[in-house]
Amino acid sequence: MSGTQKGGRPGELAWSEEGVPFAPDYDDVYYSRSGIEQGDHVFVQGSDLPARLGRGEAITILETGLGLGVNLLAAVRALLAAGRGSLRHVSIELHPLSPAAMAEVHGRLGRWDEVTAAFLEAYPELLEEGTAALRHQGHVIPLELVIGDGVAALRQLDLRADAVFLDGFAPACNPALWSAEVFAELARLARPGASLATYTAAGAVRTGLNRVGFDMRRCEGFGLKRHRLAGRRLADG
Ligand SMILES: C[S@@+](CC[C@H](N)C(=O)[O-])C[C@H]1O[C@@H](n2cnc3c(N)ncnc32)[C@H](O)[C@@H]1O
Repeated sequence: MSGTQKGGRPGELAWSEEGVPFAPDYDDVYYSRSGIEQGDHVFVQGSDLPARLGRGEAITILETGLGLGVNLLAAVRALLAAGRGSLRHVSIELHPLSPAAMAEVHGRLGRWDEVTAAFLEAYPELLEEGTAALRHQGHVIPLELVIGDGVAALRQLDLRADAVFLDGFAPACNPALWSAEVFAELARLARPGASLATYTAAGAVRTGLNRVGFDMRRCEGFGLKRHRLAGRRLADG
């Protein structure tokens, strides 16, 4: 299955033995082999979104790698569960899947719900226009997508993110999304106090983020991973 669109190569998708979507070009999975629940555990809970939304906060998420939209959907489900607050989702992506490929993969994930349908309805416009809205149960969630390569894509953005989801493929096979320049752009785009969550506990990522003004700590990881990183943008970083 492959996508189309501008940017780099189209998104190529295969399936791992565990039934997890896999990118042959990067030799890595789109989410943890331990399960799709990584999106909720690492990114939504790891950013304390349920409590923040429950307090009525308006949260702008900045994500490196829209991928399949799994983390986005987990965040939207958290918003519905909170019944308060609001979300805006901004992401970059070098290899976007075509709408047909995106629909096909979600059809196989076994998680289809009305939120998935609302995302798939918005996705073609998001690809074409760079902006769209995910509409569900009276919520209007603005979506923005910059199709491009890591730091160059981030440099096109001007926003104050409240939550950063750092979700490239593993640093060893996807260094362009974990470079010092990318970290500096994230520091520019994150408001003081913004959360940053990622599934990796790589020492170079922790050091690199701390160097540009985040305060990162190691936390219990999801599934087979012992650790992950979570932290905040410091005010004077
Ligand atoms: C682990 S997947 C992201 C999964 C996604 N966050 C989700 O919730 O489904 C990593 C994503 O980063 C994208 N990517 C890889 N290299 C990139 C680059 N240099 N610039 C932007 N995106 C890149 C990949 O195409 C892939 O979709």
